[in-house]
Amino acid sequence: MLKVENLTKTYGKGDSRVDALRGISFTVNDGEMVAVMGRSGAGKSTLLNILGCMDTPTGGSYTLDGIEVNKLSAKERNRFRRDHVGFVFQNFALMGQYSLLENVELPLVAKDVRKAERRRIAMDALKSVGLTGKADRNPARVSGGQQQRAAIARAIAGGNNLILADEPTGALDYSTGAEVMELFRDLQKSGKTIVIVTHEKEIADKCDRILYISDGKVSETL
Ligand SMILES: Nc1ncnc2c1ncn2[C@@H]1O[C@H](COP(=O)(O)OP(=O)(O)O)[C@@H](O)[C@H]1O
Ligand SMILES: [Mg+2]
Repeated sequence: MLKVENLTKTYGKGDSRVDALRGISFTVNDGEMVAVMGRSGAGKSTLLNILGCMDTPTGGSYTLDGIEVNKLSAKERNRFRRDHVGFVFQNFALMGQYSLLENVELPLVAKDVRKAERRRIAMDALKSVGLTGKADRNPARVSGGQQQRAAIARAIAGGNNLILADEPTGALDYSTGAEVMELFRDLQKSGKTIVIVTHEKEIADKCDRILYISDGKVSETL
């Protein structure tokens, strides 16, 4: 389970102070697929980065899988992220110099999984997103939709249960975006917990629940 309570995040000081999150509380149960909506600047990425242990809140608490993440040291938090979270980004964030297969192997490299085992797990992940035939290609040599599917394979290859996606369909056309959402649904069926930031209502409507963020506050209704 994921639970945030009275989460706040302030950037900067004095005249340049920005209160990006002003006391956010909600829970996401295991196996849920939740959308986070809100206009540009509302605090969506800030929230997702905290949920993904890439950033720390200014105040409040964040508990994931029974661990109070906000109490971990930076080193413990990095390890916790590696073992609990998978990320998908709007711009895919694949490494251009590596093949799709090598990209998908990266979280396993971080976990010190040995080469043969890494290959097997990464090929399985690529298969599950329909990219078996493209494993040896570099990202620049496949379509945007295929790059995002590879990024999803990378997010699941590490075996982590929480998948966080920041505008995962933002760089894709409508039908490719819909296909990517089908993949997230498949992931959910396989037991993953998924949080998707989007400003597209059609995408959010494919999730179980929508959290609306406005002015650093959250609500379950518009
Ligand atoms: N690293 C940062 N330093 C200063 N201000 C930031 C930083 N990141 C985000 N902000 C500010 O925090 C607010 C929320 O940003 P963000 O979480 O990126 O919103 P969203 O993803 O909903 O567009 C915005 O006002 C933004 O300018
Ligand atoms: Mg954002």
